[in-house]
Amino acid sequence: MNATSGHQASRFEHEEVVVRRGQRSGLPIIVAIHSTARGPAIGGCRFWQYPHWTDGLTDALRLSAGMTDKCAAAGIRQGGGKTVVALPPGQVLDPAARRDILHDVGDAIDNLGGRYTTGPDVGTTPDDMATIGERTTSVFCRPRELGGSGDSSPRTATGVLAALQALCAHLDGRATLDGRRISLVGLGHVGTLLARELAAAGAKLLIADIDTTRRVVAAELGAEWTSPEHALTAEVDVLIPAALGGQLTDDLVPRLRCAAIAGPANNQLANESVADLLHSRGITWAPDYLVSAGGILYATASEIDRLGHDQAVERVRTIGANLTAVLDAARHGNCSPHHAARARIHALLQVRNKPEPAN
Ligand code: PHE
Repeated sequence: MNATSGHQASRFEHEEVVVRRGQRSGLPIIVAIHSTARGPAIGGCRFWQYPHWTDGLTDALRLSAGMTDKCAAAGIRQGGGKTVVALPPGQVLDPAARRDILHDVGDAIDNLGGRYTTGPDVGTTPDDMATIGERTTSVFCRPRELGGSGDSSPRTATGVLAALQALCAHLDGRATLDGRRISLVGLGHVGTLLARELAAAGAKLLIADIDTTRRVVAAELGAEWTSPEHALTAEVDVLIPAALGGQLTDDLVPRLRCAAIAGPANNQLANESVADLLHSRGITWAPDYLVSAGGILYATASEIDRLGHDQAVERVRTIGANLTAVLDAARHGNCSPHHAARARIHALLQVRNKPEPAN
């Protein structure tokens, strides 16, 4: 993966990056705080296997920068951070080993004194957040019975649906998903919830996942099952990237046959210039950091602003109007939605950013 998120790779622009060997697990625990310019940093805790732990560090740097954009674009007064635990390839974690790692994560986060709060991400669950919560209070999305806001995946899915409706309205004036041809790549937590909602809304679905056992989900929903490569390049109204990042590459864009792209995967662009390539091909890309903000919108609305469920869901649905504003700005400015969104984010982050020395 070599995706970036609007940030130069050569300059160290993070506020703080901690890499410590977990006292219990012996594994590298990586916590990256990209920015607290708009408030304390938030961002999920990812458990993933990397060929080398430094690949996990690279991932943490880029994902935490993406969270700064995500928070700013969603209008949340928080900054971007991320935790990555680089698991050695091939290792299967038993519950005790998992608990040790989570306690190591909790200690590393607690040591940051409230400058960063974690949440669930790829490879972790609300139960894991409860275990992290045994070592620190800086954790979102613990199970509801423990006072947290619970699983963020359904909220992320709600946000993606709001984005899809706004996107469709932008394309042809109809906010409905009924009869739309939609290709969904990735049946993880959020992808599976989305597939169900889209099928219920009457969309004509094409589904793919690298794990072929997931084809039962397609069968159950009456959707067509295909390979990820075919799903990415199928002739559809909307392509939904719901797997890991970096899938939209220079090589892929000329082969795309979708009218628009919007999905929950983080850091979808393999590099910045892909946004322009998509724009020049007339494919509308809804910036991932806007589309995927449902989880953090719900968690912060519930756990920081103490809103009830319905009001927190309303917050999540602001993603629709937010995306419409960006798509309109892009249309009027004849630029990519990414460009339009970044201009807004840049203005927001400027407010409290201190000037940086040139290097
Ligand atoms: N995985 C979530 C995201 O990328 C992280 C998160 C969810 C953080 C909820 C805090 C609360 O947005």
